[in-house]
Amino acid sequence: MALLFPEGFMWGASTAAHQVEGNNTHSDFWLMENLEGSIFKEPSGIAVDHYRLFQDDIALLASLGLNSYRFSLEWARIEPEEGQFDEAAIAHYREVLLACKRNGVTPIVTLHHFSSPQWLIRKGGWESSDTPLRFSRYCTHVMKELGDLIPYVCTINEANISIGIAKIIKRHSSNGSQAQVGINTNSMSQMQQYFMALGNAFGLHPQEVHSFLGPRTEEGLRIIFQSHAEAREAIRQVCPNTQVGVTLSLYDIQSILGGEENAAQAWHEEFLQFLPYMSDDDFFGLQNYTRTVYGPDGLLPIPEQSEKTQMGNEYYPEALGAVVRFVYNHLKKPIMITENGVATDNDERRIAFIDRALNGVHACTSEGIPVIGYMHWSLLDNFEWQLGFSKTFGLIEVDRSTQERKPKTSAYHLGKIAQNNALN
Ligand code: BGC
Repeated sequence: MALLFPEGFMWGASTAAHQVEGNNTHSDFWLMENLEGSIFKEPSGIAVDHYRLFQDDIALLASLGLNSYRFSLEWARIEPEEGQFDEAAIAHYREVLLACKRNGVTPIVTLHHFSSPQWLIRKGGWESSDTPLRFSRYCTHVMKELGDLIPYVCTINEANISIGIAKIIKRHSSNGSQAQVGINTNSMSQMQQYFMALGNAFGLHPQEVHSFLGPRTEEGLRIIFQSHAEAREAIRQVCPNTQVGVTLSLYDIQSILGGEENAAQAWHEEFLQFLPYMSDDDFFGLQNYTRTVYGPDGLLPIPEQSEKTQMGNEYYPEALGAVVRFVYNHLKKPIMITENGVATDNDERRIAFIDRALNGVHACTSEGIPVIGYMHWSLLDNFEWQLGFSKTFGLIEVDRSTQERKPKTSAYHLGKIAQNNALN
């Protein structure tokens, strides 16, 4: 029997500016990637040339049957120097939003997805108490210029990411493997060299470089969530009808016997402690890829025999439904799944992942949990941060020598689910 989703459910795919657009020259990542001795596998370069090809990409997304597109605007393009807003960048994003409109696609706009302007980092980055104000000023500008075309905003992507990264690095540093979110943890000394070079490039002491994906103090975390809360209010001042939320990276945190307290502690650190910052949001952006399991001594290694993704994560699509349920039990807000997906070169496994993940989501909507959309990560194979172009999360394959797009079977599969608003 077909599993029907609620009427008006949003079906789409996600990208992030730096990972797809190309030539994001004013961003901190551009600088890090192009440093001599960079730990980035390769620089982003022209990425998948989405800055030029967005019209075709959005038309392709719509032709598959998807009705929503989650993408980010690049702060470093819009405000390349502090206080100087680039009209051409704004005009470009207006064209992107209009392309969505023409194609009947609802845009879900992220205002910060990991990459930041270089000037922000020189001024203390994500540990500076001035950052919430600077971020709000940029958000206000964007909403004044483009807000008429923006129904949904995610202020900051994965505001809690530093916590997960720290834990995964700790777990992986002992066995030398690679972790999720594109952090190459092969060698700690490489990481140190990278911070040294980075310091030189920014004219700062290495410990004063606070890019979004770096280590975070308690105060830095507070600054990030404060940035979200202040931006939300600034956005509402300009566009009271735009729905505003933040996205968090959430594992399905599980425990074996004796690990319950550790799991509860992890839920607190990774999610529950941030509830006060989200209590006035319109929706919650949920991002999930896998689970973590705790025992009496802490985080357990992934079992040898379990299937792994290209990222070294456990292939575990059931995580999504469980996280939706946990979130809703603690935050009674509409939930938009802003990212869920799998890095694999076996498209059959992606199709199975989508079906199993959506099964869990359907169980939640049947219980009355207000899940309002599912955005698959990612629309296109793209630049996976430090890991370069080696990981394939896309519904659409890209031949980077020609920039030719080729939808995978999974793209048609998700498109069909979207068209039927049902999982067979
Ligand atoms: C991030 C994406 C990233 C994806 C896969 C998420 O944490 O938002 O930028 O590509 O995970 O690692």
